[in-house]
Amino acid sequence: MRQNLAPFPATRLRRTRRSASIRALCQENTLSVNDLIWPMFVVEGSGVRQPVASMPGVERLSIDLLVDAAREAADLGIPAICIFPYTDPALKTDCCREAWSADNLSNRAIAAVKNAVPEVAVMTDIALDPYNAQGHDGIVKDGVILNDETVDALVKMALAQANAGADILGPSDMMDGRIGAMRAALESEGHKDVAILSYSAKYASAFYGPFRDAVGASGALKGDKKTYQMNPANSDEAMRLVERDLTEGADMVMVKPGLPYLDICRRVKTEFGVPTYAYQVSGEYAMIMAATDNGWIDGDAVMLESLMAFRRAGCDGVLTYFAPRVARALNG
Ligand code: PBG
Repeated sequence: MRQNLAPFPATRLRRTRRSASIRALCQENTLSVNDLIWPMFVVEGSGVRQPVASMPGVERLSIDLLVDAAREAADLGIPAICIFPYTDPALKTDCCREAWSADNLSNRAIAAVKNAVPEVAVMTDIALDPYNAQGHDGIVKDGVILNDETVDALVKMALAQANAGADILGPSDMMDGRIGAMRAALESEGHKDVAILSYSAKYASAFYGPFRDAVGASGALKGDKKTYQMNPANSDEAMRLVERDLTEGADMVMVKPGLPYLDICRRVKTEFGVPTYAYQVSGEYAMIMAATDNGWIDGDAVMLESLMAFRRAGCDGVLTYFAPRVARALNG
């Protein structure tokens, strides 16, 4: 790959940076609205709009307003949205049964969006944390997160979301064996065309703090998620997880968080060559917004630069709370 450069002055690398037109010709990567997945938070009620304090500009929306936002996504050319529910604490139990209820908030939201704006792809989140009295992504017994019992629950959750009309399922739970179990159930239950975008390399990260506020999970969580989410010190392990999920039937894979893990994104893209996504998570969003709101950085410029960095690292797309703002900036 590496070419031998002619010595200076035959080579003057500034020649290709000399003017806007030459820079445009030599640009290696691009960012477009096609690269965006817009995560949204849904809450019960109608006409409800609740700001999330730690995520300036992000609101929880009742289903009617969520549908309006999905319409906005379509108008802006954003191909997909991802729906996260704020669950009534009274519905959180140890068995997490609300997770696979056909008419839970998330499934009603999926159906409403697919009914009103069918051209927008709807992605979901599959993990038990919104429904778990203990705040964990899996079923907890005596302080231990049970793998196989959780997978059974996640399969029911996946089928309920597919029945509601979801296009892309996003297992974010980090249990072992869940992709294969979901893929088999989708095949046998008539959902062979539903895609799985696996949160394959999801780290036990401190960058998820504002999200847990947004979905009302911060108070509930007992302990941490380190027995299932990855150690931020590891990279080879991410490759094993991606390979495992692909062999079990994942169509697309994700690295999460985003910017601090671009090395992982690049390895995934280079080593597997599959559709690769990153999640620019709530803490990343909050940091950029906090500095922007203080006048310390140029928010739009940093936002666009951060998203281009994902593209340069090999990502085909990014889940980002900036999605509508990026789309507006790109559409001029
Ligand atoms: C749920 C889930 C989380 C996020 C996405 N899905 C939180 C967590 O794992 O604790 C975080 C997203 C963000 O921070 O923006 N399993």
